Amino acid sequence: MQTRSTKPLLQALAGETLSLPPWWLMRQAGRYLPEYRQVRARAQNFVELCLTPVLAAELTLQPIRRYGMDGAILFSDITMLPYALGQRLTFQEGEGPVLERIEDPAGVARLDLGRIASSLEPVFETVRRVSGALDPRTALIGFAGAPWTVATYMVEGGGSRDFRRVKSWAYRDSQGFAALMDLLVEGTIEYLAGQIEAGAELVQLFDSWAGILPEPACERWVIEPTKRIVAALKSRFANFPVIGFPRGAGVLHERYLRETGVDGIGIDTAVPPGYAHQNLQPHGTVQGNLDPVMLIAGGMALEEAVRRLRRVLGGGPYIFNLGHGVLPETPPENVQALARLLTEPMDP
Ligand code: CP3
Repeated sequence: MQTRSTKPLLQALAGETLSLPPWWLMRQAGRYLPEYRQVRARAQNFVELCLTPVLAAELTLQPIRRYGMDGAILFSDITMLPYALGQRLTFQEGEGPVLERIEDPAGVARLDLGRIASSLEPVFETVRRVSGALDPRTALIGFAGAPWTVATYMVEGGGSRDFRRVKSWAYRDSQGFAALMDLLVEGTIEYLAGQIEAGAELVQLFDSWAGILPEPACERWVIEPTKRIVAALKSRFANFPVIGFPRGAGVLHERYLRETGVDGIGIDTAVPPGYAHQNLQPHGTVQGNLDPVMLIAGGMALEEAVRRLRRVLGGGPYIFNLGHGVLPETPPENVQALARLLTEPMDP
């Protein structure tokens, strides 16, 4: 028997139903916080920020100091893995990541798994620093992009509207594309193992673009690679807790949860909480899914939406979160209001 954790986030992920739902927010560190913008202004660029442990640790802790979330998510980005594999990466102001495009097996051959440990050592050092600075009830969350989502950025060269490059490669030459995906599975396992050895207590796999694929492709490029990563982590670190976030996966959420072996599943804003209660909670912990725009709106709309989520999902294993990341326009005082709402006992 493992000893019961004293951290609410880990208890919920182990399947416990708690009277107050543990909570954290995707993108809880970021531009909506004045103290983030201050630190950001001091760094040359975003990649440097992610690779400077003193600053990245400070950014990880900023939202915890203000709001006392139950989880502190490592400050980094899903594009740090392609960077570590040798792909050139820059962040255009307000535009997101820009990568040198990989379009064929020759591009895959230039990537080098051997560089991960040294290139990402600063990220592991950030985890060690945060781990030493957290209070005993806050869990440290490591993360990576899931291979499919990371591949979309690597092949498209950044964000995309229709994903025609990455999809047509996967459909046209599934063997060649599989070489890239296999490499990303290996790289992700090593990257997450490094975070776990440095002190991460759970990890989340962000599959932000899971929802753009038809069923057979979703099985092959979302569910299968995730299953391999989860199996490797759980064999290396006994029963280590993993959350998957297959954004947009719709009715495939249930298969994703049952087949990948994740302990918890993040649901996006479009998943009806009642559906998640019926079809997902019997198989794992559900995390989500307040509309990030509710956090901009605030007031009664926010209160009602939070109460509804707690009513529908709070009777089973549940972690409160948004359905996607905090938006830069979010008033910090609305996050404070949310923190208060989440510590209110629910009416019977
Ligand atoms: O959640 C957290 O607070 C931890 C840090 C974190 C960031 N990105 C920091 C960040 C995490 C977990 C991510 C994940 C991430 N990054 C995802 C998956 C989740 C999702 O949103 O779908 C994706 C797709 C990325 C790639 C990425 N990084 C994009 C598309 C952008 C541009 C959009 C934006 O909001 O600027 C980024 C940049 C980024 N990542 C910022 C932060 C704080 C903003 C950079 C800045 O300050 O200029």
